Amino acid sequence: MGDSSFWHPFAAMGAVRGAEFVLTRGEDVWVWDDAGTRYLDATASLWCVNVGHGRREIADAVHAQMLELATYQTFGDVTNEPVRALTDRLAALAPMPDTKIFLGSGGGDAIDTAAKIAREYFVRTGEPERTVLISRTNAYHGTHGFGTSLGGIPPNRLAAPFVPDVVQVAHDDADALDAEIRRIGPEKVAMFIAEPVIGAGGVIPPEPGYLERAAAVCAQHGVMFVADSVICGFGRLGSWFGVERFGLQPDMIVFAKGVTSGYVPLGGLVVSARVAAPFWDEPGTAAFRHGATYAGHPTACAAALANLDIIDREDLLDRAVKLEDELHAALGTLTDHPLVAEVRGGTGVLGAVELDPERLAADPSIVARVAMAARTRGVLVRPMLGALAVSPPLTVQTEHLDLLVDAVRVGLDAAAAR
Ligand SMILES: Cc1ncc(COP(=O)(O)O)c(C=O)c1O
Repeated sequence: MGDSSFWHPFAAMGAVRGAEFVLTRGEDVWVWDDAGTRYLDATASLWCVNVGHGRREIADAVHAQMLELATYQTFGDVTNEPVRALTDRLAALAPMPDTKIFLGSGGGDAIDTAAKIAREYFVRTGEPERTVLISRTNAYHGTHGFGTSLGGIPPNRLAAPFVPDVVQVAHDDADALDAEIRRIGPEKVAMFIAEPVIGAGGVIPPEPGYLERAAAVCAQHGVMFVADSVICGFGRLGSWFGVERFGLQPDMIVFAKGVTSGYVPLGGLVVSARVAAPFWDEPGTAAFRHGATYAGHPTACAAALANLDIIDREDLLDRAVKLEDELHAALGTLTDHPLVAEVRGGTGVLGAVELDPERLAADPSIVARVAMAARTRGVLVRPMLGALAVSPPLTVQTEHLDLLVDAVRVGLDAAAAR
């Protein structure tokens, strides 16, 4: 395959150029490349194709909407039917009462929006000195400005200097969060953000009670608690917003990915009634001067509505609850492999197979080689620092999990033999 002008995200282009992997088609848990070879999509693209590929219903909804009103901006008083239907539906599904929904095109811009709403909320409520944003080690919040600064994966943080007033705490220690807020001074802290299950930072489920305690610490200090459910929402953790199983009622929930199962770019924020109030409740309040051309894009919203219909009709939330144990057990069979240090997961339909750190130190290319060997066996898994990540569509069947584990084991054997 010849060179292309496409600069891939998160790619070493010197190696990728001329050696791209071209996908042409998708159907349920499968995708095909340009040579007609079929692969199990064990990562649901990037943790997002929750309903599986090739759903005609979503394509039809997009087609129908495009013929009606393909696109229009929503600044000021302008709106459209799909965005009204989608935001009412999301607000009704949210675990907090009377929420408002802000929309954009993906997770990264929703993260930036959350940070700006948090800071502006405190300006509007008379605490403008609350500017500090707290995130966690191993966090991934996208690659926009705020998200890069909030991220806790060291190699992603090379583009310094960052947004000011962003600090990090250990991802598993609510006491450290409490201590950090006290050290900074609660009157200076605007928000704390956490993924319910850390995704790109290694698939790290929370310690029992951690999220509940972190939320309580935030409440105690008047700090906003923001859940980044970009991966965890829309079934990945067996619920709509990935926070329900922990009994959380965050001040804001960031979502993207599974809201359309990735068919069309869409992301946004669920904003609690309290946080929305200073922007909504008085006729004379100033506009929040933030938002993108594609906020409330009618075609993206039509895709989301069709996707939610599928999740509802096929009970994919309940299915995910059952799948999480099955996936964890399947991946757990790999722990006996000498190259495997640990298998993480068990909270939601996502997992990671962490390779032995000594072997990795000796040969950092091992993860990519195992993933490539699995691909040769017809299974797509994602190399992620020292681990292989999996997050299949929520329609995955037991036989697919068997295929996944077999292919990873073959890849591990090949890497171990070298
Ligand atoms: C937890 C989390 N937040 C935010 C993002 C950024 O979303 P996007 O890639 O749509 O900008 C991601 C992307 O993987 C994510 O996993």
